[in-house]
Amino acid sequence: MGLGPMAVKPEYQRIGVGTKLVNVGLKMCAELNIKAVVVLGHPDYYPRFGFSPSIQFGITSEYDVPKDVFMIKELQDDILLGEKGIIKYHSTFESF
Ligand SMILES: CC(C)(COP(=O)(O)OP(=O)(O)OC[C@H]1O[C@@H](n2cnc3c(N)ncnc32)[C@H](O)[C@@H]1OP(=O)(O)O)[C@@H](O)C(=O)NCCC(=O)NCCS
Repeated sequence: MGLGPMAVKPEYQRIGVGTKLVNVGLKMCAELNIKAVVVLGHPDYYPRFGFSPSIQFGITSEYDVPKDVFMIKELQDDILLGEKGIIKYHSTFESF
C-alpha cells in the first residue's frame, strides 16, 4: 500500500494531526492484511512510525529521488525478507 500524499494545513501543523493520520492509516492497512506500506517523504518524519529506506530490502521506486526518501514499513514480521524489485504506484497517483 502507498501512503500519501499527506498534508496538514499550516495552522494545524505540529499538534499531532499528521501522526494521527499515519497511525490510523497503518492500523486500517493492518486490518486489511496489507503486508507492507511505502511512502515517499521526509526522511526525518516517517522513521518515527517505523518506516526505513526501502533500499535496505533491495526495493526501489520508479522515481529519481535520494535513496533515503523512499521508505517502507513491514506490517507483518519479516514479510520483506527475500523480496526485491521496483515499487510501482497505482495509476491513481499519476494525477497528483
Ligand atoms: C509533514 C506534515 C504532514 C506533518 O503533519 P503534522 O500534523 O504537522 O505532524 P505532527 O503534529 O503529527 O508531528 C509533528 C512532528 O513532525 C515533525 N515534522 C513536521 N514536518 C516535518 C518535516 N518536514 N520533516 C521532519 N519532521 C517534520 C515536527 O518537527 C514534529 O516533531 P516532534 O514531534 O519531534 O516535535 C505537515 O508538516 C505538512 O503538511 N507539511 C507540508 C506538506 C508535506 O511536506 N507533506 C509531506 C509530504 S511527504
